[in-house]
Amino acid sequence: MCGIVGYIGHREAYPIILKGLKRLEYRGYDSAGIALYDGTDIKLSKTKGKVSDLETRLENEISTHGSLGIGHTRWATHGVPNDINSHPHYSNSGDLVIIHNGIIENYESLKKELIKRGYNFKSDTDTEVLVNLIEDVKKNENIKLGKAVQIALNQVVGAYAIAVFDKNKPNEIVVARLGSPLAIGIGEDEFFIASDASPFIEYTKNAIYLEDEEMAIVRRNKGVKIRKIKDDSLVDPYVQALQLNLEQIEKGGYEHFMLKEIYEQPSAILDTFRGRLLSNEGIIKMAGVEDNMKKFLNAHRIIVVACGTSWHAGLVSEYIFEDLARIPVEVEYASEFRYRNPVITENDVVIAISQSGETADTLAAIKLAKSKGAFVFGVCNVVGSSIARETHAGAYTHAGPEIGVASTKAFTTQITVLTLIALRLARAKGTISSSDYRHHLIELELIPEKVKKALESDAYVKSIAAIYKDVHNFLYLGRGYNFPVALEGALKLKEISYIHAEGYPAAEMKHGPIALIDENMPIVVIATKKGHYEKVVSNIQEIKSRKGKIIGIVTEGDKQVKGLADHVIEVPETIESLTPLLTTIPLQLLSYHIALMLGKNVDQPRNLAKAVTVE
Ligand code: F6R
Repeated sequence: MCGIVGYIGHREAYPIILKGLKRLEYRGYDSAGIALYDGTDIKLSKTKGKVSDLETRLENEISTHGSLGIGHTRWATHGVPNDINSHPHYSNSGDLVIIHNGIIENYESLKKELIKRGYNFKSDTDTEVLVNLIEDVKKNENIKLGKAVQIALNQVVGAYAIAVFDKNKPNEIVVARLGSPLAIGIGEDEFFIASDASPFIEYTKNAIYLEDEEMAIVRRNKGVKIRKIKDDSLVDPYVQALQLNLEQIEKGGYEHFMLKEIYEQPSAILDTFRGRLLSNEGIIKMAGVEDNMKKFLNAHRIIVVACGTSWHAGLVSEYIFEDLARIPVEVEYASEFRYRNPVITENDVVIAISQSGETADTLAAIKLAKSKGAFVFGVCNVVGSSIARETHAGAYTHAGPEIGVASTKAFTTQITVLTLIALRLARAKGTISSSDYRHHLIELELIPEKVKKALESDAYVKSIAAIYKDVHNFLYLGRGYNFPVALEGALKLKEISYIHAEGYPAAEMKHGPIALIDENMPIVVIATKKGHYEKVVSNIQEIKSRKGKIIGIVTEGDKQVKGLADHVIEVPETIESLTPLLTTIPLQLLSYHIALMLGKNVDQPRNLAKAVTVE
């Protein structure tokens, strides 16, 4: 969590850093700060609140002049969100200033030692401990900043992406990473530092992504020198050409990123299977799967590890893999799996799903599975992310940047990738007939158009949102492939509207949740024609007789549920395994409209951040 930005070059740093922080606010938004070197001294301003609060405050408070600076947008871990705990942090002498994304786990013992040596601390943060540790090493050993950072980091346990500079050496910024992402944009005589490339995409398409346990000294007019933190060896910088463009990270006329990303799903799903799904030839081509086909075919089981929405996509995949490829699947919360001493063997294939590719628990689960000899396959959206690098092989979702904190297109594109893999394996194993296989490919190809159609319900969904926006509880029910969609619908509503919502397998309702139902309770029931339709209709009848309000998600042309439900939202017909790609659309729209009507911050819901890089 937290976003960091830095600049050193020939332009004014302030506007670059400010805009960069706004783009990184998805990573955390409870406080923000900037430190600039104005030619003689450091000018620092920070505040609890959003980057826009910082902007208002900063321009009245300090001079925003200077061609070197660092900035931070925070998601609090150590210390409540307040002005003092906000970054950047000074060292005691005031010479050094630092920004940090991550957690220093042994900060208390380091702090005790530093207090003994006369240091004092203003904030409750682990970051202020780190900057003083660097200062202490630098002074005691009379060495340059880069060396001091390296020695200090070798004493640190935890995760970090840091940027630090010394006001007495205003021609360099020292950066380092372990467990939190850090990119360096390479311009013409100028360098950009950021948690991802979005803050500098309009200035350069060339970037270096630091690897774990690497640090870099970024020098004005000179360049970037990268070293391994542990053994001091020099690393050849690998400069990547960025694929990202400005349009992808801007709202493009939409009021919110979430809405833009909901509407991007037809093209995002298309991008996910472009070049992989060749329906005319009846082929699915995925290099990561082909190259490791033996591993997949010999797998005794697949273990899926993920968190949140990605875990829900994993649950959908359990149905697909078992149904089509006949491989047993277990779907695990990464946070539970990693601490459970799970039974993992060399015959297991672990699939790790993550939009950001940075989720700490998922990353730890991958490392655990690898240590036990399992083959680990990643399904990530962010190219070059930690999870993409840590897994043995993988497939990107190619959804494009997802900036709204609530995942939407990540979910549907993850399901698309997982469906492709399941189909490919089913074909290789012979567990699917060739006609059924072809039928799946053709239906999958039609999905983007059908998602477009499902989006046409937007205005109607909005009118339903207006009716139920003030209730305090929602229930979401689904069966089979659509049980995970019920969970996902409930999560979307909770996280952006703060209305309590629960997802349940429809038949489980009788075992408890039915007690909640009265005339005030809206129940969203996914009742598409394919998959346990009659059973779900019975569940709807049970709700009806208890006066619950029913919002049915049904297949186009449905009459039976229409006769029972208070509202029905139609989605196009498709085969059962693909229904989640359509039924999830109105649920995303419902949560969006309710949150908006309640005046909530749709893109930046309270207490959340886009990439959960802490456990
Ligand atoms: C919900 C949401 C989160 C993420 C979860 C995992 O809308 O966004 O539940 O799905 O934090 O994140 P990734 O997929 O980046 O590992």
